[in-house]
Amino acid sequence: MKKLWKNCHIATMQHGQYSSIEHAAMVTSGQHIHWIGTFDEVPADAYSETIDLNGAWVTPGLIDCHTHSVFGGNRSVEFEKRLQGVSYAEIAASGGGIASTVRATREASEQQLLASALKRVRCLLKDGVTTIEIKSGYGLDYANERKMLRVIRQIAETLPMTVRSTCLAAHALPPEYQDQSDAYIEHICNDMLPKLHQEGLVDAVDAFCEYLAFSPAQVERVFKTAQSLNLPIKLHAEQLSSLGGSSLAARYQALSADHLEFMTEEDVKAMAAAGTVAVLLPGAFYFLRETKYPPLQSLQQHGVRIALSSDLNPGTSPALSLRLMMNMGSTLFRLTPEQTLAAVTLHAAHALGLQDTHGSLEQGKVADFVAWDIEHPSEIVYWLGGDLPKRIIQHGNEISI
Ligand code: NIG
Ligand code: FE
Repeated sequence: MKKLWKNCHIATMQHGQYSSIEHAAMVTSGQHIHWIGTFDEVPADAYSETIDLNGAWVTPGLIDCHTHSVFGGNRSVEFEKRLQGVSYAEIAASGGGIASTVRATREASEQQLLASALKRVRCLLKDGVTTIEIKSGYGLDYANERKMLRVIRQIAETLPMTVRSTCLAAHALPPEYQDQSDAYIEHICNDMLPKLHQEGLVDAVDAFCEYLAFSPAQVERVFKTAQSLNLPIKLHAEQLSSLGGSSLAARYQALSADHLEFMTEEDVKAMAAAGTVAVLLPGAFYFLRETKYPPLQSLQQHGVRIALSSDLNPGTSPALSLRLMMNMGSTLFRLTPEQTLAAVTLHAAHALGLQDTHGSLEQGKVADFVAWDIEHPSEIVYWLGGDLPKRIIQHGNEISI
């Protein structure tokens, strides 16, 4: 059953970069793209349906490749403290921060976590996000990490989205392991990860490489375990200080290293050589009032793919709109609108290892796209917030939003 989508312009992202076709059309067959080109060249065929997109600009479905959407409670009180001058690191050192979300997440039932996460993920979906990555990392023991990962799988069953789950057990030290961080890492590597993976709950492995979390040596131990389980790797690196986590990630052929404000030229070169994607998180940069910028020019000079993501989490980026993050990526990091669009489609797909099926509109790829009621694609980056009128198509079917 083939559908013809006509009367549109398409930002295809074909050939590995921003590219577009004006006066375009697309043919989908089931869940996939069968043909894409200019309207004059539409193949003569028997279409089960012809859909008029009224001159809309079509982009690939947006991909939010770094989120912590599942968590108990929220940290608005901590937000107020930070406004009074207490730093994120000071709050973490006094038992707040990630630890407070761990307490709230442990107390919450699977159903409660699912209900609260769905509200947030629906906001992203309505904003045009059709693929999302969600991390665990607020459970920090087997039962609670498992609970989070099961909720992530349930989100995939509930919403018309592609959902990837990442195990971030090495996010912070749980209270049971105070002063025994090596022992916690051993527990992750010997017990938690192998079991969670065996239960089919893990698509990738992440860690927080930072002076207030885990050292590069501890992260490497987690990477070795991930490698032995054949699981792809990602890393929170160089967010608050420079520890060379992004170089370490590159050495292990990580899909991505994320945050990166404090990365060095050496780190950039290592990531370029490995093809590791730089995922920049302007929401966390803004919300923490960071003043050190990720080295945009150097990343671009060395040809590192740059993705942008919401980092949706209760502590550093309670961001419910990827479009707002796109505007911040342009305004704060000076990415052009075209680079910004590639950052949340093509490059975000690479950051999840989904580049063969997602992230651009070309024959054979999944038919996930958004038809935006706008005059020019840069408007997707330009408007701040609000509900930009759009139609969302996932796996060849229009979804109601
Ligand atoms: O990506 N950097 C570590 N993890 C999250 C923050 C988590 C939290 O504060 O709850 C981040 O910014
Ligand atoms: Fe994060």
